[in-house]
Amino acid sequence: MEQPVLQTEVCKARTLEELVRLLHELFSGEKVDVAEVQALMESYDSAPEEWGSYAHFDQFRYTRNLVDKGNGKFNLMILCWGEGHGSSIHDHTDSHCFMKILQGNLKETLFAWPGKKGTGEMIKKSERVLKKNQCAYINDSIGLHRVENTSHTETAVSLHLYSPPFDSCHAFDQRTGHKQKVKMMFYSQFGGRTPCTTTVSQENN
Ligand SMILES: [Fe+2]
Repeated sequence: MEQPVLQTEVCKARTLEELVRLLHELFSGEKVDVAEVQALMESYDSAPEEWGSYAHFDQFRYTRNLVDKGNGKFNLMILCWGEGHGSSIHDHTDSHCFMKILQGNLKETLFAWPGKKGTGEMIKKSERVLKKNQCAYINDSIGLHRVENTSHTETAVSLHLYSPPFDSCHAFDQRTGHKQKVKMMFYSQFGGRTPCTTTVSQENN
């Protein structure tokens, strides 16, 4: 008698287009399987010719460039980091956050949540350098983080997925733990520059 074959679903995204299609499938249900999404994003081998049209850099700040709206379930975006660009310490508005490196390296520093009133200097929990094709994951129960391109000679590009989508979060002052609500903007959407975007807008995730 034949035994049923156990299917271990190993999804591999061969192109960015395929990655987007498979992400739509993974997010079509009610539940999000974090490990599965992370593995899928990691499986995509970064090809600049596939994402280059979304990658718009700014001289002064890192930029957020919308790639796909995930049928309302997630936002997929490409972040472009010039030399020395970094984010504030921020939270993720109760969403899942996946961050895959497409080019260069990014340093991620994890912080503990401050106490209610702010507790002075924020507590650093860990730090690591994420390399090309790696995919990190964070949510508010893990903590807060800061992301930086510490290189003075190389730019960096990362692919971020947020589910559910959000357009504001909190930025934290490292010395005091005080937080401030910030609204996030897109520098470009679907490859085209967003009108009226200024470089003073706060980008924080
Ligand atoms: Fe983040």
